[in-house]
Amino acid sequence: MNSAALLKSSDMTVEGENFFNVRPTKSATHAVGFNETRIIKIEYKNNPRKLNSLEEEAGIISFLNNHGCMTCPEIVSQGRLSSGEPYYIQKRIISTGKPKTADMVFALLEQKSFGVYQGDFKPENMIFDGSTCHLVDYDQAQQCDGFLKMGNTEFIDWIAGDFKNRRGHDFFSDPDRNFDKREIFNLFRNNSFNLGETSLLQNQVTTNTETGFYHRLCHPTVFIEGARDLSARVSVLDKIKFKPKEEVLDVGCNLGLLSHYLYDKDCLVTGIDLDGNITTAAKMVANILGKPITFSPMDIGDAVKLKTFDTIFLFSVLHHIHNMEGAISSISKDCKRIILECKLHEGGSKPTSFGWTSTNHWEFNNIANLTNFIESKFLNFKFEENYGQVDRGRYIFSFTKS
Ligand SMILES: C[S@@+](CC[C@H](N)C(=O)[O-])C[C@H]1O[C@@H](n2cnc3c(N)ncnc32)[C@H](O)[C@@H]1O
Repeated sequence: MNSAALLKSSDMTVEGENFFNVRPTKSATHAVGFNETRIIKIEYKNNPRKLNSLEEEAGIISFLNNHGCMTCPEIVSQGRLSSGEPYYIQKRIISTGKPKTADMVFALLEQKSFGVYQGDFKPENMIFDGSTCHLVDYDQAQQCDGFLKMGNTEFIDWIAGDFKNRRGHDFFSDPDRNFDKREIFNLFRNNSFNLGETSLLQNQVTTNTETGFYHRLCHPTVFIEGARDLSARVSVLDKIKFKPKEEVLDVGCNLGLLSHYLYDKDCLVTGIDLDGNITTAAKMVANILGKPITFSPMDIGDAVKLKTFDTIFLFSVLHHIHNMEGAISSISKDCKRIILECKLHEGGSKPTSFGWTSTNHWEFNNIANLTNFIESKFLNFKFEENYGQVDRGRYIFSFTKS
């Protein structure tokens, strides 16, 4: 492609992808085009007003992608056109509206945890998929380990100061931004960001408790006022032995509190949950807390073949699984040890478009009857240990493959 073609706009094919209406950016140094699933960006010539060349920009995007960042769309390829200009191709996120301020800030904080500031934080560079705010355009992005050490609000102040130094006027009232400074700072309690204000947490449906949030998290960087935390379970959990790098699956992981505990015990952790909004939020929170954990949306009742794990954790979830028999069959095949949390009387439910509907229930008057029942479900597994009682009358048991 040459300059004249860029200035005219044209359709083009790269790597078997048809890009429609590839057109020059305002400066005419770059061109951008898209099709239904991809976006292409081409650098025709260096633009001194941009902090990064296209290849540097692609490097920062790839860095975020390789670290599991949820708010930076994935680069699928990069290279040079036959005419020599560098390009990259990125997955296209379809916008479904405007993010809330909390969604923008959540994205910003996720990227801060990797030492990256996207560099041109304004609504035009955000794509909202209905729950997650994705940040695009990294030609002004900055990578700096110093971001990691800054507190959340200090980082926002730094962004505003950096903008003022470069552009000479106020960041918040800049017409391209028009952010409500008070609204942004109200999202923090001291320095800790309120996850409960984000669309991801407000759209997830994993519990019918009063606040709508199951996990309660109170950390200096992020918090949420959910119904239950791990503090009452830790002393019992501490009795469980793990081998180094034990591969574990946390079924019904919710916002990931048990996964965090298992990661801190040197396990290789995967968390799954029915609700894709909670697993995206769980991944972003784990990134912010510096815990590289895999989180995926999955209904364990549909899991025909799971990856193999040493231990599968089923904490307050078995009775909620609508296809409990199907889940039990795949779990039994795919691990050597099951650690389960439940109580003598359980009544499960799951969210549907008509509201919460019941799934499974059981009632036992003693622990032996309960563990016999679990053994009768997980054929080949034998009851091993009762680690003890935790909050809400729940017990933690282990079963091992015989
Ligand atoms: C009561 S919460 C327990 C959360 C966490 N395991 C704990 O103990 O702190 C149950 C969780 O299981 C999830 N869940 C329910 N049915 C599921 C299924 N079939 N597959 C995966 N997750 C499921 C819910 O979305 C919810 O996050």
